Amino acid sequence: MPSKVVVGAQWGDEGKGKIIDILASRADVVVRSQGGNNAGHTVESDGQVYKLHLIPSGILYPKTTCLIGCGVVVDPKVILEEIDGLESRGVSCANLHIDPRAHVIMPWHIELDGLSEKERGSSDIGTTRRGIGPCYMDKAERSGIRIYDLVHPDIFAKKAAAVCALKNKIIVNVYGGKALDADKIIEEYTAYGKRLAKYVSDVSVMAYEAIKAGKEVLFEGAQGALLDIDLGTYPYVTSSHPTAGGAATGTGIGPTCIEEVIGVAKSYTTRVGKGPFPTELLDEQGDEIRNRGHEFGTTTGRPRRTGWFDAVIVRHAVRINGLTSIAINKLDTLSGIKELKICTSYKKPDGSITNDFPPTLEELAECEPVYETVEGFDGDISACRSFDELPQGAKNYILRIEELIGCRVSMVGVGPGRDQNIER
Ligand code: GDP
Ligand code: IMO
Ligand code: MG
Repeated sequence: MPSKVVVGAQWGDEGKGKIIDILASRADVVVRSQGGNNAGHTVESDGQVYKLHLIPSGILYPKTTCLIGCGVVVDPKVILEEIDGLESRGVSCANLHIDPRAHVIMPWHIELDGLSEKERGSSDIGTTRRGIGPCYMDKAERSGIRIYDLVHPDIFAKKAAAVCALKNKIIVNVYGGKALDADKIIEEYTAYGKRLAKYVSDVSVMAYEAIKAGKEVLFEGAQGALLDIDLGTYPYVTSSHPTAGGAATGTGIGPTCIEEVIGVAKSYTTRVGKGPFPTELLDEQGDEIRNRGHEFGTTTGRPRRTGWFDAVIVRHAVRINGLTSIAINKLDTLSGIKELKICTSYKKPDGSITNDFPPTLEELAECEPVYETVEGFDGDISACRSFDELPQGAKNYILRIEELIGCRVSMVGVGPGRDQNIER
């Protein structure tokens, strides 16, 4: 069963798209199983940059089958724009399949995402405002519209009219917003459904059959461990499970189908949106890392908050995902910084030390990061292709991270390109 899950080990944007693209050269199938177009995965190949939001990063290989599982929330307008954008650049989407059970992001979800964020005022979550939370709310409440409904005009018109009427009551009476035009939405989305119909297939069956046939199947995580709805920094999280477990339920395969779980982290930490970030750098050092690493969101363009590598959060990711190895990206970004800090543990108010990420924000707020300072490294490492070629300081940094998180570092990223990767 040669199947691998790739998941984010921090707060997202760790470079999962790049790692998937590298591994996809050897894969038959790539699957997205949770999240939606809150994700932004960058792939750079042959000098071309692709920013993917819903379509699996395996799409650049013509032979790879790309699946969107039942756990994903699909904005039909966005996925069609993405398909058109890729096809206009010569990338075929003929091998794309979407599960009929996946839920559809409708205009009221986007509207309500914005309105509820506004209502929260200064305690807003800082969502991507793509309708993700409200869509998962309807799914859990069992009133959502699914891809199957979307591609069946009669079913869709009936469901959408009923749901839109109810959502308009909430939009107008609860939030004081403006009612949406149901007829216009139904007309527009019926047209999307017509175009998407040819992509609909049972992804659970396709993934299972591929695994059974011994094909190489890759699961592409979106977001990251600390954004998990249960195990992340709740409520400053997304509304799905960006973990290895989420890959199984969001595709419709069992955990025994998963052979390897590869985490992806940066050599430092970033976060977009609000919420706690123990190692955040609010000084010039933080600005320096942001500018060197071009840390601006792929989806919303927001500047990413930056900070030192936090071994406590990555250790948390190792545990909740059962990581078998980890890729550390963007080591090149740290080159030239004289001294690097690594957060090794947190100190509690009673002076005791914890190695485990606290379960609640209240407990986290009382903790203080404990740092260890290590010597930095210099020079352009973007052309290094083996671990031995790296400067000693860079090697030491990676080896120390490996020791602290208790997980083998199997890849080190030294640039955004497909080839700028060291396999260990
Ligand atoms: P994802 O959401 O996890 O797929 O990550 P994003 O694509 O949102 O953000 C990662 C950014 O880092 C992208 O711009 C990548 O091109 C870039 N990147 C990935 N790996 C490396 C690396 O090793 N070095 C550098 N300099 N950039 C990288
Ligand atoms: P990729 O796959 C980074 C963050 C948002 C916000 C929180 C909730 O590119 O790593 P949501 O719109 O999901 O309700 O927002 O989650 N967030 C991400 N941050 N990378 C992502 O995806 C993210 N997807 C959501 O910024 O803080
Ligand atoms: Mg991203």
